[in-house]
Amino acid sequence: MEKLVIDGGIPLCGKIDLQGSKNSALPVLAATAAVDGISVIHNCPDLSDVAAAVKILEHIGCKVKREGHTVIVDARNACGFEIPETQMREMRSSIVFLGALLSRFGKASVTPPGGCEIGLRPIDLHLSSLRSLGVSVCENGGILECRAENGMKGCHISLAFPSVGATENIILSALSAQGETVITNAAREPEIIDLADFLCSCGAKISGAGQSTVRISGVKGLTGTEHRIIPDRIVASTFMAAAAATGGKITVNGAVREHLSPIIPVFETVGCRTEFSGNEMRISAPRKLTRVKSLRTMPYPGFPTDSQAIIMAMLVTAKGTSVVTEKIFENRFRHVPELIKMGADIRVEDGCVAVIDGVERLHGAKVSAGDLRGGCALAVAALGAAGRTEIDRIYHIDRGCEAIEKSFSQLGARIKRERI
Ligand code: EPZ
Repeated sequence: MEKLVIDGGIPLCGKIDLQGSKNSALPVLAATAAVDGISVIHNCPDLSDVAAAVKILEHIGCKVKREGHTVIVDARNACGFEIPETQMREMRSSIVFLGALLSRFGKASVTPPGGCEIGLRPIDLHLSSLRSLGVSVCENGGILECRAENGMKGCHISLAFPSVGATENIILSALSAQGETVITNAAREPEIIDLADFLCSCGAKISGAGQSTVRISGVKGLTGTEHRIIPDRIVASTFMAAAAATGGKITVNGAVREHLSPIIPVFETVGCRTEFSGNEMRISAPRKLTRVKSLRTMPYPGFPTDSQAIIMAMLVTAKGTSVVTEKIFENRFRHVPELIKMGADIRVEDGCVAVIDGVERLHGAKVSAGDLRGGCALAVAALGAAGRTEIDRIYHIDRGCEAIEKSFSQLGARIKRERI
């Protein structure tokens, strides 16, 4: 086991390159299993969740090679359609292999996925959508036996909630369905567009990705391609919050302004200045931040739930009272008690509303990461705090943030990773 040891209080400065998006790399890697060819995926972040996706690809018979941030998947001899529970439990995104396997083989045996414990995270929307496509889903001793022996038939699917994973699974399943599938109330996240871009370059026929209505026309067989994963907008918000929490001034190389459109106004409200030139984003912070009156997480293009904990970590020392409402997941305040150990003044109402009274400064403490983004939030808070903070269970952070201590050290932070 490892921990992060952070001596806070240093204003961050300098330039940092942005990693590829975890939440795009994972569905794209799953999608390579649907391709009877070789897929070359560039800008793939070096994360434990990516390693878990590679393990699943190898388990079903793909040959996978990693060269730096490029992952090469040869799926020509893939033949497995069963994913063991141990691999499914590794992460949430394993459920998206379901659509890829159905598309390629017409059958799949999986178990419910794992992932951050930020809520119940059911897969009812995934399964009801597959059934609409003609997939039979039988639960047998915890295993979901999914079969489309006579192939899938395109249909109209209206999602009760714009679920990212369900939208991805429907797109992947519909690739080889007969006729057209129309998804209404689809998720609009940039990662959906990236997945569709990859699939279209393999020969798929998808239109409307990134909008509420997505159309997929079934095709016979997909060919291999090269694809570059989009930058990680949530890690970008992590670096921005660290600059804001330390009164620093940094440049994030590789940020995409449009992807950050729900986030930038929040930083401007607290008093930060942001400017873009090409793919370089510069952010400079005031000595003292101003509160955000009210912030509510929403599906894209609303404020992203994945940035909620990270932003809260900078609001705890902003002047005034901020109110943060988490509307996407029912258990996404696990970082709150840990921030309170560092001297934050936060009270939670109705389980989903955090009222944050800004304090002058946080102090170092021994704290625990409970999930990926909550762990990143503790690192942000520790960078701005007075004194030393130790964060354990940082395997959560390593699932989605590549070598976080290297990135923050590059920006002048006093941070190290130690074995416990
Ligand atoms: C994806 O999770 C992301 N993960 C999450 O990022 C992100 O928070 C989430 O989308 C929302 O943006 C990956 O892409 C790997 P959802 P996903 O289906 O697909 C409910 C991170 O930190 N729901 O959009 O699981 C669900 O319970 C992670 O990088 C159902 O009720 O999210 C939740 O309340 C955390 N039934 C809401 O929808 C379903 O069948 C949003 O879930 C599916 C979802």
